Amino acid sequence: MPRPRPSSPYSARSPSPMFSLPQKESRTPTTCPGSVSTRGLHSIYGDGLEREASRKPDQKLLYGVGDPTAMFSSDSPHLSSRGSIIKWFWDSAEQGYRTYHMDEYDEDKNPGGIINLGTSENKLCFDLLSRRLSQSDMLRVEPSLLQYPDWRGHLFLREEVASFLSFYCKSPAPLKPENVVVLNGCASLFSALATVLCEVGEAFLIPAPYYGAIMQHVYLYGNVRLVCVYLDSEVTGLETHPFQLTVEKLEMALQGAISEGVKVKGLILINPQNPLGDIYSPGELREYLEFAKRHALHVMVDEVYMLSVFEESVGYRSVLSLEGLPDPQRTHVMWATSKDFGMSGLRFGTLYTENQDVATAVASLCRYHGLSGFVQYQMAQLLRDRDEWRNKLWFIPTVEYHSAIKSTGTRLSQRHPAE
Ligand SMILES: Cc1ncc(COP(=O)(O)O)c(C=O)c1O
Repeated sequence: MPRPRPSSPYSARSPSPMFSLPQKESRTPTTCPGSVSTRGLHSIYGDGLEREASRKPDQKLLYGVGDPTAMFSSDSPHLSSRGSIIKWFWDSAEQGYRTYHMDEYDEDKNPGGIINLGTSENKLCFDLLSRRLSQSDMLRVEPSLLQYPDWRGHLFLREEVASFLSFYCKSPAPLKPENVVVLNGCASLFSALATVLCEVGEAFLIPAPYYGAIMQHVYLYGNVRLVCVYLDSEVTGLETHPFQLTVEKLEMALQGAISEGVKVKGLILINPQNPLGDIYSPGELREYLEFAKRHALHVMVDEVYMLSVFEESVGYRSVLSLEGLPDPQRTHVMWATSKDFGMSGLRFGTLYTENQDVATAVASLCRYHGLSGFVQYQMAQLLRDRDEWRNKLWFIPTVEYHSAIKSTGTRLSQRHPAE
């Protein structure tokens, strides 16, 4: 059933004459929250945030310049304007969680309850993880683990990360520990990259729909916005599959943002994509990277689901597997253990970048986002343990895990058939 549509916190224009596409029915992005109210915020965030869509009904929505504060409405007398916005983001998310927690689904006790499909968390492998993490080699107490670390992460861990990524990303040459920074998850990494790559009010392009929390990740500290590159479920013109990202769409969004006076500094690619589950082919990846290079854009490639591709036939390739990246100094790769290892509470993420200025600036922020020495040690043990644990116990049982997901999926769809 169609739902009432909120007004959009994104401004959008028709394509510039240079990049005209076949026109068709307009649509509102599903991820956009409601009406515009930026009370008293212009002094900090500039007046460029409050632009409304000016689009004829028959024009397709091609891009949108995000206004994360579009629905903001709760100044606190105790907080700065910035603090009020930060708190408001939390409150907005909490509302949903509160509703969910008050009526959680339970197979027996509350079969009509709410199922949280908004949090992507793998809870099926706790037995394997608890067994491995309880082994005696996981606890080590030595002075270096209790002292201030190298903020990029202990070298022993960065060596393991480099070797792990070289193996699983199938990099043409071994990856280097000096290009690795470790910190507490991809969310922090988005936040750090936004802060060190952009000025306040600048923006990143992002294909939409996308994992929505990125809007907060780049905005809360960095005051960086997102320019959505809207993808379409309908296949038209030169497209070969639904939600296809093309260089033409990237160009249109970029030119549209520029025409609105928004400076775009980078492109975010999520591969495998969340929520679409799409995978970019090496050819597509290279086209997007070439596009970014032509416009001197940084590319942040979020590969947090890299090892959760179970169909070999789809041919997933990490960006780090490509021979000769078009612009290695502006290509920054992210991975974390939240999804592939089912450890979202451990808070481990990693950046791989050849750009030493970027690595150093992010490392400087790791003073606030770093990992404790003990967690670094445990992670190194886990990543190192390729033969005994990962290959024999983790990735082999993922076949069982895969079938567990399948049967869970089947059970869910039996109970809640798609409408
Ligand atoms: C695409 C994507 N990137 C990053 C994250 C967050 O990762 P982390 O738990 O490492 O902060 C998520 C979590 O859902 C995600 O879906």
